[in-house]
Amino acid sequence: MTDEAHDRAVRQVFSGPIAFLKSAPELHFLPDPTVPEVAFAGRSNVGKSSLLNALTNRNGLARTSVTPGRTQELNLFDVGDPLSFRLVDMPGYGFAKAPPAVVKRWRHLVNDYLRGRAVLKRALLLIDARRGMGEVDREVMAMLDAAAVSYRLVLTKIDKVKPTEVSKVLDAATTEARRHAAAHPDVISTSSETGEGIDSLRAAVLDAVEG
Ligand code: GTP
Ligand code: MG
Repeated sequence: MTDEAHDRAVRQVFSGPIAFLKSAPELHFLPDPTVPEVAFAGRSNVGKSSLLNALTNRNGLARTSVTPGRTQELNLFDVGDPLSFRLVDMPGYGFAKAPPAVVKRWRHLVNDYLRGRAVLKRALLLIDARRGMGEVDREVMAMLDAAAVSYRLVLTKIDKVKPTEVSKVLDAATTEARRHAAAHPDVISTSSETGEGIDSLRAAVLDAVEG
């Protein structure tokens, strides 16, 4: 396939049928593990739900909010008809305003899913370009390395940062990714606001599903 034909094929998948399947507040609510899954992980408010909407070109498919802690369950979306894979929007890490027991429950839910889901092809670990990598991100990376779960770092909200600053954060994240066994060596920079990097992200999702 030529590059152009490949780009077209990639776009076609994400402009075809995509539908909300279900919310799983606990692991036993998950659907049978019969198709590949790609999951969105990262700190609260990093832009997971927004990126899922940008990726699928559907505003409001996943619920977003200025208030951290919007997504509270594992939300699954079917892509393709016939079904070819699922996208999973997850609660964020490190939301301090919810009661500690609730924060703990979310963290366990997300970590148990990431470590134990047989059909999880790749986790996308989102990093806010304004903040760069933090303690929680490194903990999640270590956990994914230990569980041998393939993951990829994705910078979000690059429209909020000067281009020179984006390249600094990108370089730092890339250097760090390359030190981790289970991390993809290349980091993708995105903006759900401007659409920058969204085509690359689509290709990366398909690559994960097909790989
Ligand atoms: P939780 O579900 O609470 O963990 O948050 P989330 O990671 O799903 O973040 P969400 O997508 O709800 O976005 C949080 C806020 O960031 C919202 O106000 C979004 O509009 C904003 N946001 C997300 N992505 C971008 C982006 O690329 N650029 C800009 N400028 N704002 C963004
Ligand atoms: Mg969310």
